[in-house]
Amino acid sequence: AATTRYEAETSPAVCTGTIDSNHAGYSGSGFCNATNAVGAHAQFTVTASTAGTATLGIRFANGTTARPTDLVVNGATAQALSFEGTGAWSTWATKTVTVSLNAGANTVRLTPTAATGLPNLDHLDV
Ligand code: GCU
Repeated sequence: AATTRYEAETSPAVCTGTIDSNHAGYSGSGFCNATNAVGAHAQFTVTASTAGTATLGIRFANGTTARPTDLVVNGATAQALSFEGTGAWSTWATKTVTVSLNAGANTVRLTPTAATGLPNLDHLDV
């Protein structure tokens, strides 16, 4: 199936922080710089035509230190991720994960498990 791109700066996505555009290389008009605190989040609403597994491509940039993050799907923690340092805030990478989605709308939330916070998040490709 074709890939759908969900931009972190586009409603109904939620970014508890700021939408920034000061580090080049992002898609769309910016990226989510969530507040560096446990509980902050970037959340995407992903529509699936049928229930089943889906591959998510999470585009992010980080500094030099890995940031531990929970991937929460429809309110339940699906996986614990670690976003590695990309070496520079303008160096973007894509982390690929597989999740189970319901038919219809699903919330996909990234929330940090340490006060170091999230990496900067550009988009989700599904
Ligand atoms: C730097 C960077 C931000 C980033 C932040 C962080 O300030 O410019 O884009 O979000 O570090 O540590 O999260």
